[in-house]
Amino acid sequence: MKLKSHLIFTLYTIYGILLKGISGQYPLVQNVTVTEGGIANLTCRVEFNDNTSLQWSNPAQQTLFFGDKKALRDNRIELVRATSSELTISISDVTLSDEGMYTCSLFTMPVRTAKAYLTVLGVPEKPEIDGLTKPAMEGDHITLTCITQGSKPAADLRWFRNEKEVKGAKEVNASGKTFTVRSSLQLQVDRNDDGVAYTCRVDHVALTQAPQQATEVLEVHYAPRVEITHSLEVPQEGQYLKLECVSKGNPSPDPVMWTKDGSELPDLDRMIVEGRELTFTSLNKTDNGTYRCEASNHLGTSSAQYVLYVYDAPTTLPPPTTPPLHPITPDPTALLGSHASDPTVTGNRDPNALGQHGTDHALIGGVVAVVVFVTLCLIIVLGRYLARHKGTYLTNEAKGADDAPDADTAIINAEGNHAHAEEKKEYFI
Ligand SMILES: *[C@@H]1O[C@H](CO)[C@@H](O)[C@H](O)[C@H]1NC(C)=O
Ligand SMILES: *[C@@H]1O[C@H](CO)[C@@H](O)[C@H](O)[C@H]1NC(C)=O
Ligand SMILES: *[C@@H]1O[C@H](CO)[C@@H](O)[C@H](O)[C@H]1NC(C)=O
Ligand SMILES: *[C@@H]1O[C@H](CO)[C@@H](O)[C@H](O)[C@H]1NC(C)=O
Ligand SMILES: *[C@@H]1O[C@H](CO)[C@@H](O)[C@H](O)[C@H]1NC(C)=O
Ligand SMILES: *[C@@H]1O[C@H](CO)[C@@H](O)[C@H](O)[C@H]1NC(C)=O
Repeated sequence: MKLKSHLIFTLYTIYGILLKGISGQYPLVQNVTVTEGGIANLTCRVEFNDNTSLQWSNPAQQTLFFGDKKALRDNRIELVRATSSELTISISDVTLSDEGMYTCSLFTMPVRTAKAYLTVLGVPEKPEIDGLTKPAMEGDHITLTCITQGSKPAADLRWFRNEKEVKGAKEVNASGKTFTVRSSLQLQVDRNDDGVAYTCRVDHVALTQAPQQATEVLEVHYAPRVEITHSLEVPQEGQYLKLECVSKGNPSPDPVMWTKDGSELPDLDRMIVEGRELTFTSLNKTDNGTYRCEASNHLGTSSAQYVLYVYDAPTTLPPPTTPPLHPITPDPTALLGSHASDPTVTGNRDPNALGQHGTDHALIGGVVAVVVFVTLCLIIVLGRYLARHKGTYLTNEAKGADDAPDADTAIINAEGNHAHAEEKKEYFI
């Protein structure tokens, strides 16, 4: 019984070894992935081969090579190596139609085969950006669309606004074996978009080097925006003052125009206009008024105004220690009125606000003065009251103590009357 089973086991082992030896005679292949236009090597190996022939055939079951013999007329297909244990062929200039299952056959009895799948990657075309109106007007809604064709598998499209990624809406359509990928971006442009670069980038496995991308720079036209800057906060008579009309617009606004109180600037040597700058070499009270500058391009006109109020020269100003009860300002309502009449003003700066502050300061100054005065009075009254009490305290308790040589004597002295204290003083000295 035991011997029989051992025999069977030995037989099985021998059979196994034999089987393994025979089964070593089978073809081995690997799947291949290649980018369109590249070269694909198809290799078929047999570990243990007698001189049995190997053959490669294409997905259409046509024989490509039988051993080292070429069977199909296609000069893209070449023999790389043919030995008894290997048959390698190459397909150059691979196209998407080359994709499919290739078969390596080993002509044993029966024939043994192995299948290798050739995957061809479709290279996405350079993306194109559509939908850009150049120039766009501020406030326009535009939709930028980026399209790339020919990718396989479908490519990924990403949008960047000046290097920073923004989210687009992607859509993928199959067209034959490849894919058309489209991504769109909806924008409402404003002046901050002027000169901004939008880039559409294609990411794909077949793009091993730099990713493909397209960039468009937005050009946004907008009406000018005007603002007046001034070199002095409190213009005083005799001082130098420079007003600058800062205007920004696309296209660049025409040269700015200055007016005073609605009419041309007075022709004075002290008043110099140079480009966007208006300079007063020495301010005079007669320069008081509303100065306006205006800039325009074909999209619109914008203006800003500055109310000049020339204060007295520094020497004639009242000393700062006594805050004036009436601030030195013009009638604020009149100035406010002039503002309200001009809705286009965007960057208006005038001393009117300063005048209002002057009023506030005067009020605050007055209140502070009153508070300080009351506090002082309180301190004085309190001081006097305390002083009086301290005085009595001293007379009652410490008069004798002053003259006492020690604490005990001091207490005795304090309890005694003044006359005694005087006597004791003399005595102790
Ligand atoms: C294909 O085989 C040839 C010859 O062995 C080799 O030079 C080439 O690099 C191989 N190509 C690929 C894509 O493996
Ligand atoms: C294969 O064929 C060659 C000659 O074509 C011969 O020399 C060799 O011995 C053969 N090998 C086997 C394993 O039959
Ligand atoms: C080769 O590709 C085929 C088809 O895509 C797949 O079924 C098979 O599992 C792949 N074989 C290997 C070894 O990757
Ligand atoms: C994809 O197909 C849909 C419907 O067939 C069509 O409306 C759309 O325009 C196509 N998109 C692309 C990117 O071709
Ligand atoms: C201001 O102008 C008036 C008249 O134009 C002139 O009389 C006066 O001296 C000027 N004041 C100063 C401080 O220049
Ligand atoms: C200009 O303002 C000053 C206040 O500093 C005032 O005294 C003067 O009368 C004003 N001049 C004109 C022409 O309004």
